[in-house]
Amino acid sequence: MTKKIAILPGDGIGPEVMAEAVKLLERLRKDFGLKIETETAPVGGTAYEAHKHPLPDATLKLAQQADAVLLGAVGGAQWDTLPRELRPEKALLRLRSELKLFANLRPAILYPQLAAASTLKPEIVAGLDLLIVRELTGDIYFGEPRGVRTLESGERQGYNTMVYAEHEVERVARVAFDAARKRRKKLCSVEKANVLETSGLWREVVLRVAKDYSDVELSHMYVDNAAMQLVRAPKQFDVIVTGNIFGDILSDEAAMLTGSIGMLPSASLDAANKGMYEPIHGSAPDIAGKGVANPLATILSVAMMLRYTLNEPPLAGKIEKAVSSVLDQGLRTGDIYTDGTKKVGTAEMGNAVVAAL
Ligand code: IPM
Ligand code: MG
Repeated sequence: MTKKIAILPGDGIGPEVMAEAVKLLERLRKDFGLKIETETAPVGGTAYEAHKHPLPDATLKLAQQADAVLLGAVGGAQWDTLPRELRPEKALLRLRSELKLFANLRPAILYPQLAAASTLKPEIVAGLDLLIVRELTGDIYFGEPRGVRTLESGERQGYNTMVYAEHEVERVARVAFDAARKRRKKLCSVEKANVLETSGLWREVVLRVAKDYSDVELSHMYVDNAAMQLVRAPKQFDVIVTGNIFGDILSDEAAMLTGSIGMLPSASLDAANKGMYEPIHGSAPDIAGKGVANPLATILSVAMMLRYTLNEPPLAGKIEKAVSSVLDQGLRTGDIYTDGTKKVGTAEMGNAVVAAL
């Protein structure tokens, strides 16, 4: 059966990196028998400009109907002063919650070819391969009440609510335990149970779920310590499971261990493994339109889509191999460039991956 993929290029470098992913999908369709059809729709600031809304109804509908969503990036300074509801980021948050994408998988893998591009010493990061499973539809991101109120004194006060129900913790914990089972069988749950009630309950639920996974070694870590351990000795981690806000922060930190945020894909999955796939690098307005952005994170997001939603792990493996082989050839976009390698642009990098397939 033909699977439908919603293509949402978005803002900044989104359309440039997405063009390379689309090239790749075309090749997989034509030459590797992948049964897919694609449909493109606007999202983020680009959608706001055209339709006065960052997530037009037609885009949401397409995303809901599709088997998988491939998203470039959203955001840009020119939209930062819009009311919160109309900002590009809101489109992303709404897609996550409307599609019930509660499990966000963010791998941080250091390609041996890029060890020199990391800001950390090679011996600290060489061979790094960790997976952050971030809860994506709960926590302080969506918690009510929220807002800015005026106190009796006339001073304004901002407030948000950190909140997790047991079922929300349980389902993301299961995704993380299952992932650990397929890897090195180690799971570290990260929270702030020494201070926060929400975290205390989180830990209780994780411990309960752990009874079904006696083959996985479970540990717990406070988020401040986890932030430190990630730069001190990141290879101690296999899978990390954490809440929405802690996961937002730690996944940026983990990404940087690998030298370039331009290399890292992500998957956001619902209970049936329908997913939205996106590079984690964001819209990078400073280099947008110059043809220099790194398309590999988006290309690797296609690989994740093939693995998790389209059930084509061999094709996913082929893409990952092709990426590794263009790195072996010494091709580098600016963000991962080091002395002695060959600097290429977005399209050249995308073409090289397609050729290496
Ligand atoms: C991310 C981003 C988003 C988030 C923003 C753009 C809303 O930082 O995907 O990590 O905070 O989740
Ligand atoms: Mg983030």
